[in-house]
Amino acid sequence: MKKDLNQKLIALIEYYNLMNANYLLSNSPIKRNIYNSQNIFTGSKTEKLDKLKKKIQSIKNCELKKSAKNLVFSDGNINSKIMLIGEGPGANEDIEGKPFVGRAGKLLNKMLESIKLNREKVYISNVVNYRPPENRKPTEEEMQRYLPYLISHIEIIKPKILVLLGSTALNALIGNEIVISKARGRWIQKKIASIEVWVIATFHPAFLMRQPDQKKFAWIDLKMIREKSKTLKL
Ligand code: URA
Repeated sequence: MKKDLNQKLIALIEYYNLMNANYLLSNSPIKRNIYNSQNIFTGSKTEKLDKLKKKIQSIKNCELKKSAKNLVFSDGNINSKIMLIGEGPGANEDIEGKPFVGRAGKLLNKMLESIKLNREKVYISNVVNYRPPENRKPTEEEMQRYLPYLISHIEIIKPKILVLLGSTALNALIGNEIVISKARGRWIQKKIASIEVWVIATFHPAFLMRQPDQKKFAWIDLKMIREKSKTLKL
């Protein structure tokens, strides 16, 4: 009987690991409902973005910044109503100082093209703006540290649709109570600082390269984004 229970427990743990659901086992779910804006930036959109960039460049004592080559701030159209948030720069992004220029970026371009979007029609940034060493996930502290900048970034861009690419962006902006496989493909209307925005999470392109069988779900999400942008007349 006891052996039976142990086997069930082991099977359950393996199942959670398979789902990458370590957050489900955490005692302290993080629910992000405080979106404080620094709201200290004035001027035109370009000036505000420049000021935000300088603010991030002046961050002190950040391990990410110490090991990174470049700040990776954003790419795309600053007037777009569709903003995409990734996790953090990888090796190629670190060299070029631009988000999503490596292999995951190439897949992201294809995903965008499939719904008639491209880099000139969207705006892209990341949860953290400096490359985490060895492409590790940013820690909770690092995410917390960069969150106010991300929120200011969203406030300056004023998107109508926010696309969270993968679990790090989901955890940073929504919380870690729900895993990406459950959260994806659903619209949430959210107020982030002073911005009312439609938020959708989908799989990160790097994850899709590892798990191509999941692309069918990303396709559903992409079609939802296409429909929503039609409804919102973007
Ligand atoms: N992955 C990300 O999350 N962001 C990038 O900029 C590149 C790869």
